Parts: sequence; C-alpha cells; structure tokens
Amino acid sequence: MWDRLLTDCHLATMVASPGNPLGIMTNAAIGIADGRIVRVGKRTELAGFRAKEVVPLGGAWVTPGLVDCHTHLVFGGTRANEHAMRRAGATYEEIARAGGGIVSTVAATRAASADDLKGSARRRLDALMRGGVTTIEIKSGYGLDTASEIRMLNAARSLGRDSPVRIVPTLLALHALPAEAKDDRESFVKMVADEMIPAVARAGLAGTVDAYCDTIGFTPAEVERVFTAALANGMAVRLHAEQLSNQHGAALAAKYKALSADHLEHLDAAGARAMAAAGTVAVLLPGAYYALNEKVKPPVQLLRDVGVPMAVATDCNPGTSPLLSPTLAMNMACTLFGLTPEEAIAGMTIHAARALGLAHEVGSIEAGKAADLAVWRIGELAELGYWIGLPGPERRLFAGRDS
Ligand code: NIG
Ligand code: FE
Repeated sequence: MWDRLLTDCHLATMVASPGNPLGIMTNAAIGIADGRIVRVGKRTELAGFRAKEVVPLGGAWVTPGLVDCHTHLVFGGTRANEHAMRRAGATYEEIARAGGGIVSTVAATRAASADDLKGSARRRLDALMRGGVTTIEIKSGYGLDTASEIRMLNAARSLGRDSPVRIVPTLLALHALPAEAKDDRESFVKMVADEMIPAVARAGLAGTVDAYCDTIGFTPAEVERVFTAALANGMAVRLHAEQLSNQHGAALAAKYKALSADHLEHLDAAGARAMAAAGTVAVLLPGAYYALNEKVKPPVQLLRDVGVPMAVATDCNPGTSPLLSPTLAMNMACTLFGLTPEEAIAGMTIHAARALGLAHEVGSIEAGKAADLAVWRIGELAELGYWIGLPGPERRLFAGRDS
C-alpha cells in the first residue's frame, strides 16, 4: 500500500528519451511511499494500485522540485549601496578594489549574530522555496578564516533542521583575500589548504570546495593548490570560472574532475571541450550577468556542440545577484542567454542535481528518487521559462508531503 497516489497530472520527468528530452508524460500518475517515488506511469496504468491517499491534481503539470545549485545565501548586511554605485558607472572590479565588494560582506558577516545570520538567510530561503526550490546549495565564503567559515557552514546546515528543504553546503574557500591577509596571499592560501579544508572535512560540514578564479579573485596556481588539498581530504571541487576574464579556469576545473564550472561568460573552446571530457557541468548564472550589466554572454551554442550539460542557478548573493526567484532565473537564462525553455527547466532540475553530485537522489521524477516535486497550475510547460517573475508552484512536495 502506497502513501500517496498523485493522479490526473502531466509530468516533466526529466528522464530523456529520443525525441522527448524532458521525458514528458501526459495524463500521468505518481506513486509515493516512505518519501520516495515508487512508480511513475500513465494514470490508467496506476489506477489499480492502492494508496492511503489519492490526490487528483486537476490536469496540473508536475516537475521535479527545483534545484538551485549555486547560491551564497548566508551573509550579513546587503550591498544595496553598490547597486547605486554601479548605476552611477562604477564597475564590480572598481568597487572591489576600493574596499567594497566581497570583503565588505565579510566584515558584515563576521559582525552578524548567529540569529541575524540565520534569520536573514531564512527569509531569502523562504522566497526561493516559494518559487519551487526543494534542494539548495549554500556556499560559505564570507568568513575567510577557519572559524568564520565553519560558522557560516553551520548556519547553512541549521536552516535544514527546521525546514523540509534539502541543503547542500559548500566550502567556498578562496573567495577574496581578507583584509588581514592583504599583504600575504601566500600564507592565506597555505592556511586554506593546510588548515581550513582539513578542519571542514574532519567536521563533515561540506563535501565540496569552491574557489573564485579571476583577476580580482585567485590565480590558477592558487586554485590548484587548494583543489589538491580538497581532493586529498576526500572532497569534490567546483570553480567560479571565466566570469570577468578568461583565466582558463574551466580547463583547470576539468583537470580536477570538478562537478561544475560556473559563470563561464569568457569560456573558450578548449575549456568547453575539457569540461565535456571530464563530465563537468556548466552552471549558468544569468542574475549576475544581469545585475553587472555584462556584455559578454556564455557561449551556449559551443556548450551544446561539445555536449556539456547546462545548469541554471540564481547565484543569490548580496553583490552580483540579489535574485530571489528560480523561475526568474529560468526566464533570464532564456531571454538573456538564449536557452530554450526546455533547457532552462533541465538546468534547474536534472543538470543542477548533477552539478551537486546528487543526480541519484533528486532532479528527475523516477522510481527510487526522493518525492520532491513541484505542482504548477500552468497550461503548458514552456510557461516556466516564459513568465517574468512567475510566483511559484501551487503545491510543493518534500519527501512526498505538502509543505
Ligand atoms: O558568484 N564572483 C564571485 N562570487 C559571487 C559574488 C559574490 C559577491 O560579490 O559577494 C558570484 O557572482
Ligand atoms: Fe557565486
């Protein structure tokens, strides 16, 4: 006997087959038991099964719960002032070099009380969940010393304790050089590799290490040192790469079998081919492109040609992407980057799950996976990439339950 039988719905299962990349199944039903999907099929096929509760969905569309695979959700303060500075002509680099940017959020984050840190992140998380997010990655990176990074990772984890959402914490070890290390990059990178990464690995607070490779971030050599430490400590890696310039970070990420390389506006063909060979997912972040009013777009056609899966995420952060809507991220991926609505939907479900190393658990509607689902009152699936600011699904299921 199943717990629930969702019926009278259309599905984007995300289990691709020839001619049906989103695995669309109309007039379908889903059987759920113990928080997991146990059976997916036509409504008529599943009609004979018994369930404690039958839930008719009145012809709604059901997708996997959305996966936001790149956020910096936990931080102190905001950077609304920089929004105004940019409108007056200052660039992200200029603001960062003048002491604003990431290091100003580091100061605000270190100064914030645990309650403030968690409370403000909770409000942002609630907005993203209302938009349909059931799994969210949260990076640290505004602590920049071991104790402060651990505090951020603990704050991220604690959000998952009083909410059904699935939280995936990532140690963003190289994000910016903290003020106290200004004159000694070398010691900072060494501290990250030799002290911070082992401490986080020992405590089991994150499974993945991220870094920011760019002119105002860290050099490829510095990133390699930290990636080597991550792998030695049994962690996976990801990289903010090719956002403002081409540092060949994507190829570097691929060399370390990174789960993903993210941003990628300045990606070249060699980098894309290296990603394809390594199985590294491209995470596209249209919110940052939009907020920074960038002109160079990620090479979407190149990514398609070489067969790199494209994920889409909000990059929710106080500086470059104060974006609180996953459906708007999908819309922007279409209008700004040229993704098809189908690609945008795959980008916030199955490919995003891959970017987190969680494709065995979430990101598609198939037997064995968690019953994390979004029920959309829309006429056609492409509406998910079409509305500018679609509020979110009518119902969200976490492990099979409404929440
Ligand atoms: O993904 N580029 C670096 N990291 C973030 C921005 C963080 C910030 O500005 O606070 C990003 O865009
Ligand atoms: Fe980011």
